[in-house]
Amino acid sequence: MKIGLLGHGVVGSGVTAITDSCARKKVRRLEVTRILVKDESELTDPRCTLNVEEILQDPEIELVAECMGGLEPAHTMVSRALEAGKHVVTSNKKMFANYCEELFGLAQENGVTIRYEASVGGGIPWMSNLTRIKRLESVLSFRGILNGTTNYILTRMEETGRDFEECLAEAQKLGYAEKNPTDDIEGYDVMYKAAITAMKAFNATPALDAIPMYGIANVSSVDLAWAAEKNCSLKLLACGSDDGKSISLWVMPVFLKKEDILANVSGNFNAIECNSETLGKASFIGQGAGSLPTAHAVVQDMLDVYVGQDTALGEMESRTICNDNIHAQFYIRTENREFFRPVTREVLLSGAIITEVMPLSEIDRMIKESEDAALFAAMVYAE
Ligand SMILES: NC(=O)c1ccc[n+]([C@@H]2O[C@H](COP(=O)([O-])OP(=O)(O)OC[C@H]3O[C@@H](n4cnc5c(N)ncnc54)[C@H](OP(=O)(O)O)[C@@H]3O)[C@@H](O)[C@H]2O)c1
Repeated sequence: MKIGLLGHGVVGSGVTAITDSCARKKVRRLEVTRILVKDESELTDPRCTLNVEEILQDPEIELVAECMGGLEPAHTMVSRALEAGKHVVTSNKKMFANYCEELFGLAQENGVTIRYEASVGGGIPWMSNLTRIKRLESVLSFRGILNGTTNYILTRMEETGRDFEECLAEAQKLGYAEKNPTDDIEGYDVMYKAAITAMKAFNATPALDAIPMYGIANVSSVDLAWAAEKNCSLKLLACGSDDGKSISLWVMPVFLKKEDILANVSGNFNAIECNSETLGKASFIGQGAGSLPTAHAVVQDMLDVYVGQDTALGEMESRTICNDNIHAQFYIRTENREFFRPVTREVLLSGAIITEVMPLSEIDRMIKESEDAALFAAMVYAE
């Protein structure tokens, strides 16, 4: 099967490394024949081109793998590939979370598939395992550490007592965090992955702006010191559940008891846990990013297309997110403590407060109304 590759950076070069060198019979049938690059200086391989039409208009290319990232031109190129009757594999969570409904429609109209294993959990076979579980039963809930950059920063803060900025700089030096880390530390990256997971697990297409999203940009060593005092680890989690009527979906740092399996996932690893009726709890831990682990997931998707593996989703429903049933105590560190007085259970020495047990939807509304850009919020002891 001839393949056109869009983007030859960290993931794209991993894809050609695997497809070019793998001796396994089926992988040898995956032949990357064209690679779209952006700059003349990147024309290092005879397959490289600066002209996307050489991929989109090549009738021999049956599959386009998009590893460029960002919304545009990735979205337009992927749409055009589907319209041209080519299968698509993408690792781009931002583009896919924003346009999945439209892209599924285009794929269906044109009798092709779009696959996105690498977009959540990097190399962890998370999407394909959800598909297998759903062949037998509904997925009831999931929770996970879906961003290696923030997990690395929180782990280093916990281990060294150093502050956020120092650990972020260390992550950047090691190549674990990008120069502009906004998507990771503000929670956007995890939010896109939570939306894609909800789509796969619950057949839901949630509006991205309805997902409560809290990152770690304002975390401080005092928050980690409180975690240590309470025998907890602080982890940025994405969580979702489906009770048949509504779905809950949220992204927030959580103080987890040390005995919790997710509290022990350190460094830049990802870990995801899901729950379904007969399988019960199943956990998946592994490399959530990196050139070869992520490319491994891209190539697995290509093989699924090649062997005709069915990973269709079934009917999608546009369902609203309701976090009224998620009750917990919350840790809030803010200059605007007075605003939270009606729900405050305890004021800590650091000045942070612990709220009474209350719905996530309610604290989310209060935090937005309080308008403190430096506020740090986390859930306490979520199960
Ligand atoms: N890195 C990971 O571990 C990882 C893990 C899971 C998912 N992903 C996702 O995979 C995607 C790619 O990530 P990456 O880390 O490989 O990014 P990257 O290293 O920046 O690679 C993207 C490549 O695409 C090129 N590109 C961008 N726009 C282009 C255009 N219009 N025409 C041709 N080439 C273009 C970029 O060129 P320039 O550099 O010149 O702009 C770059 O070489 C992203 O959506 C990311 O979220 C990455």
